[in-house]
Amino acid sequence: MKPLPDALVGQPVSAVDTPSLVIDLDAMERNLARMVAFAKSRKLRLRPHAKMHKSSTLARLQMQAGAVGVCVQKTAEAEVMAAGGVNDIYISNEVIAPAKLQRVVALAQTLARRGGRLAMAVDSLEGVQRLALATRAATGADGLIDVFVELDVGHGRCGVTAPETAVLLAQEIARHPALRFAGLQAYHGRAQHFRGVAERRAAIAAAVALVQRTITLMDQASLKVELVTGAGSGSFALEAGSGVYGELQAGSFMFMDADYARNEADPSQPQFEHALFLKTQVMSVCDDHAVCDAGHKSHAIDSGLPRVHPLSGTPDLEFFNGGDEHGILRGLTPDTRLPAIGDTLWLIPGHCDPTVNLHDVLIGVRGGLETGVVEQLIGVDARGALS
Ligand SMILES: Cc1ncc(COP(=O)(O)O)c(C=O)c1O
Repeated sequence: MKPLPDALVGQPVSAVDTPSLVIDLDAMERNLARMVAFAKSRKLRLRPHAKMHKSSTLARLQMQAGAVGVCVQKTAEAEVMAAGGVNDIYISNEVIAPAKLQRVVALAQTLARRGGRLAMAVDSLEGVQRLALATRAATGADGLIDVFVELDVGHGRCGVTAPETAVLLAQEIARHPALRFAGLQAYHGRAQHFRGVAERRAAIAAAVALVQRTITLMDQASLKVELVTGAGSGSFALEAGSGVYGELQAGSFMFMDADYARNEADPSQPQFEHALFLKTQVMSVCDDHAVCDAGHKSHAIDSGLPRVHPLSGTPDLEFFNGGDEHGILRGLTPDTRLPAIGDTLWLIPGHCDPTVNLHDVLIGVRGGLETGVVEQLIGVDARGALS
């Protein structure tokens, strides 16, 4: 990781160089407080997905605010979180490579020694057996790792689709003393981005029905489903109201990207503010467009291009792809005034997770983007932790 620009702390936001990824700390903290209050009011556990911010500093902040721990997607992310002092980590994903599983077991032992816990998801007999094999050499490993059986509740990614298969996997987990069957993982990722509330409701109702059928079969097989974990920022109120989910994994709510803002707002869930911004500067102006220094090396474009943040004085502009080092800005109407060379603008990234993964540091600003002050530099310590 490159050295953090420490001298920035205490400087006005105008001193932040471009392109830089900036957090509006006030907005981020309000988002977190809203989510914590929501989970508390429904008596649900909150385990935000740290793949979004990739920062052990923010994971600790989430736990101080009331989260029980964090989810991660990768073994290396789990290792970074643990090194940063996070003790309760769930790898909400399948881990298959023997060498990675050795790291999973070593990490579980480290966390256990610190009074913490590691959990992992599985969706195949082979996956359970590989994990069990990796625990063989570990001493005192009884009940070392919590294992969730992943259901594919409509996402079409990992997970088993038949409740009967989930029962077989839970039975296999129960055969291995180092593993503890902890419950079900049921995350419907695609549904998070269904634009209409009605579509999201229908998708999560189907997910809940599959979870319920699985719990019934597990009961019949004398397997206790202690916890159902899942949900993201687009649908969590629906899982929360289902009566079957006990833990929410939403991640993006804390930063709120432009893609999530395109969802029809669901009145049953708290609303979140944009808190992640890319500061950019205009470097060239032509007749009908301006060019800024934010190309797609500074923001991910898998979920659409960034939106120009309508701060006071910012002309109504639309962002177009100018390649990896440039962004093109055009007026929304023919008579929109274009910005001048040297002007700075704020962009709302299309997708927060992969945008954060492009940066070493998030610049935390207190007091707003216009007159605020840099308060904190937040290292993206799990940046590039992909293995
Ligand atoms: C398994 C799992 N849980 C939770 C989340 C969090 O979703 P979001 O960031 O959309 O809130 C994700 C994100 O992709 C995920 O893959």
